[in-house]
Amino acid sequence: MAHLFNRNVLLGVSGGIAAYKAAEIIRALQQLGATVRVVMTHGAQEFITPLTLQALSGNPVHTQLLDAEAELGMGHIELARWADLFLIAPATADVLARLAAGRADDLLTTVALATPAPLLLAPAMNQQMWRDAATVENVATLKARGAHLVEPAEGLQACGDVGPGRMEEPTLIAQAASSLFQSGLLAGRRVVITAGPTREALDPVRYISNNSSGKMGFALARAAVDAGAVTTLIAGPVQLATPEHVQRIDVASAQQMLEASLSALPQCDIFIACAAVADYRPAAVNAQKIKKSGEEMTITLVRNPDIVATIAAKPDGPYTVGFAAETNDLVAYASDKLRRKSLDMIIANDVSDPEIGFNSDSNAATVLWPGNGRQDLPRAGKATLARQIIQLIAQQLPVAE
Ligand code: C5P
Repeated sequence: MAHLFNRNVLLGVSGGIAAYKAAEIIRALQQLGATVRVVMTHGAQEFITPLTLQALSGNPVHTQLLDAEAELGMGHIELARWADLFLIAPATADVLARLAAGRADDLLTTVALATPAPLLLAPAMNQQMWRDAATVENVATLKARGAHLVEPAEGLQACGDVGPGRMEEPTLIAQAASSLFQSGLLAGRRVVITAGPTREALDPVRYISNNSSGKMGFALARAAVDAGAVTTLIAGPVQLATPEHVQRIDVASAQQMLEASLSALPQCDIFIACAAVADYRPAAVNAQKIKKSGEEMTITLVRNPDIVATIAAKPDGPYTVGFAAETNDLVAYASDKLRRKSLDMIIANDVSDPEIGFNSDSNAATVLWPGNGRQDLPRAGKATLARQIIQLIAQQLPVAE
């Protein structure tokens, strides 16, 4: 069953005659359980008042980018982070063009750039404008970047024309929004995901760790739940809220992460190793704080167990997915890792690009699987990329007996 329970939907309304239907869209989203906030362009306010949408959504409507008071309440970045989905309905030809160009010339387009949430567009415009080569190209660009589309319907238009361009019905738009969260692709499957860094203690107060934020693993957990999987997240130390319906097990060291992973194995059909596991740990953990002495100090490190390789080596083990963060020769190193660790799939990231990977909100990847399988996933928000990865896993997974 499709629903939007506990989901934050940011509704962007732009200036077309269909803007009056935003009121019904808010209602339809709320009926599916969503909390709705609204961003309006200047043009939209010519068709329907912010007050109407404020009364229906139960939240202040956001209209200005440069508004000191609004920024004190919920600023544009907070709004962008708040959203689980950014739905733009109606999306005019002008908004599609500005989104495709990556403009940030009003609040709506700025939030679209700033949000890691998926983008769902419900275009509405005159049929000739919809068919124009510029619009066709803008829509293709946005789709290639991962935006989802509720195709406009055919019919009589406000201007008297007949053809494609009428915004789809509000209830169908709300359904499209909810279906993004509930694909059923992994219904009944059990997914275990490792995420974040590990922390390797030197003494009671010091440790060796790395910069992994855990965002990708958490986004994967959320996408797995949305695909209907029973999901367990084995998390190193991270500052992230547990996604809804995810069972979270907190660990610190690589050894603890291995133990938690092995314990979860009996309930695991798919194992996704997203954690940035420390390759080495201090050979000994001092019981007391190490005192400084002398100008140099030497720490002996020993190799940590390879968690994903251990899981992949299990007879009758789960479908096992690993990650490869590389700075050069991405595909060559990743396919070597795929083979060496006997994985079923590997997701390779270029971490030399500071815009993607580790602490950023977006990512790009090349996914490889045995038999020369390959799919390039272009740069997108981690939530979008996570959904695409889950989709690929669901496609590649052997059929359940
Ligand atoms: O060998 P490398 O660290 O580059 O491999 C990365 C992949 O292996 C990731 O999926 C990571 O989660 C996993 N890994 C692991 N245990 C380790 C080291 C890496 O599970 N000790």
